Amino acid sequence: MSDKKLFYNEYENFYEMAERSDAFRNFCKDAFGDDFSQDGFSDIKQIDRIIDYIPTGRESHILDVGCGNGKMLGYLQKRTNAFIHGFDYSENAINTAEKLFRTNAEFRQGLIGEIDYPTEQFDVITSMDTMYFAPDMEKFILQAIGWLKKDGVLFVCYQEGDVMPKTDNKDTTVFAGALQKNSIPYEVEDITKETYELLKKKREAAILHQKEFENEGSSEWFDMLMAQTDCVTESFGLFAEKMARYIYTVRK
Ligand SMILES: C[S@@+](CC[C@H](N)C(=O)[O-])C[C@H]1O[C@@H](n2cnc3c(N)ncnc32)[C@H](O)[C@@H]1O
Repeated sequence: MSDKKLFYNEYENFYEMAERSDAFRNFCKDAFGDDFSQDGFSDIKQIDRIIDYIPTGRESHILDVGCGNGKMLGYLQKRTNAFIHGFDYSENAINTAEKLFRTNAEFRQGLIGEIDYPTEQFDVITSMDTMYFAPDMEKFILQAIGWLKKDGVLFVCYQEGDVMPKTDNKDTTVFAGALQKNSIPYEVEDITKETYELLKKKREAAILHQKEFENEGSSEWFDMLMAQTDCVTESFGLFAEKMARYIYTVRK
């Protein structure tokens, strides 16, 4: 397997589990406020911020990079009537997305950095915990901005301390650095404290549904959720030394 497909088997297994597991669906509702089969760290509060950027009164087009099984896009479509587009390298995820969302929707299996779209097609492009997988982040940012219509918005939820190393602050991340290098203005919100509280909720929800995971034979997924949230067993101060989460918006 090439490096381009890092974690491919893990994500195939994850989306296979997400499709069959009631325990995981119930866990997502309790942890995040709704079930979007999150493997990231985005709850309904973060996702609702996207709605402000989706134009109303005409057909809008949204693209989600690393869309998984498309459930977040389905929610955004329900709220805004937008035409939804998503891509992900996971075959299982895209098969489920195509089954779940058939109207005003287009899903493609493809790799960040390889897949391409026509220029000026989208009103909003979202990247929820997926920028890290771009083989060349700067190149991918410029490509995605090219896909946006004039005044379109790139909305990026971005975490440091797991895949990406922790840097000093919201303006020193690899993502912010790539924007600065290209003189691209951006706005950024630091949601590290909100994320700490969310991760605590995620841990509590996992524990609440532990028995359901076990009864389904899905204990390994419960263990994964505990490992992902181990960082909130310490104080916020210690957590914030190692982890950070930001929402970046870039307007074309
Ligand atoms: C951390 S998960 C985030 C999923 C979802 N956006 C969320 O917030 O829950 C990363 C997603 O990106 C996909 N992915 C990982 N590497 C990729 C790549 N190189 N090209 C396309 N998709 C990729 C995975 O299958 C997974 O759906």
